[in-house]
Amino acid sequence: MTKIAPSILSADFSAMGDEIRRLEFNGADWIHCDVMDGVYVTNITFGMPMVKAIRPHTALPLDVHLMITEPEKYVERFCDSGADYVTFHPEASRDPHSTIEKIHAKGVKAGIVLNPDIPVSVAEEYIKEVELVLLMSVFPGYGGQSFIPEVMDKITELKGMIERYGVDVLVEIDGGVNLDNAGECISRGVDVLVAGNTVFSAEDMKACISALKGE
Ligand code: DX5
Ligand code: ZN
Repeated sequence: MTKIAPSILSADFSAMGDEIRRLEFNGADWIHCDVMDGVYVTNITFGMPMVKAIRPHTALPLDVHLMITEPEKYVERFCDSGADYVTFHPEASRDPHSTIEKIHAKGVKAGIVLNPDIPVSVAEEYIKEVELVLLMSVFPGYGGQSFIPEVMDKITELKGMIERYGVDVLVEIDGGVNLDNAGECISRGVDVLVAGNTVFSAEDMKACISALKGE
């Protein structure tokens, strides 16, 4: 069953604990935490303290997406803050393989993130080490952007690579996911859909999350 990971980038930051509980009550499977440093992307959101703050408010997996430079310097502290998954952009790291090892050493699941303009072939170097590959369907930095349709073919290509290597790697898609494109993402084999604006702008959050799952 496809999982929905709402991005708290679209949440009310002044009431984040309530927002986390609202997501869980309405059927979210994971909580997607968008960390931005103002260097890797031209936006700044939050860091380890936010992850630490929301941890006690939910038992749902915290899916921490690091849009930061030199993630190797911070991954352990995000793990200690309560992350269940830590994903990072390999081109932002001086040593992606050791960064993955640092995440694993903390008993946390690791993933790499591919921007829309990064070929799926880049994942091949990491596909036997990670538990998840996150495909960006927008350029990182902001919520509420439009889904880049060319990314659909990258889902199929990545699923083919996972099949060929016979590895148990989740495919997550992130950016501009809505009720018009979720169905095709799922039919192409996506395991986790990130959705920020779609979920938080919905009249009925529970119905929206169910509809994204194709229920
Ligand atoms: C963008 C973030 C995404 C984004 C998703 O840099 O990584 O997680 O917040 O939000 P929507 O679903 O609104 O595009
Ligand atoms: Zn994200």
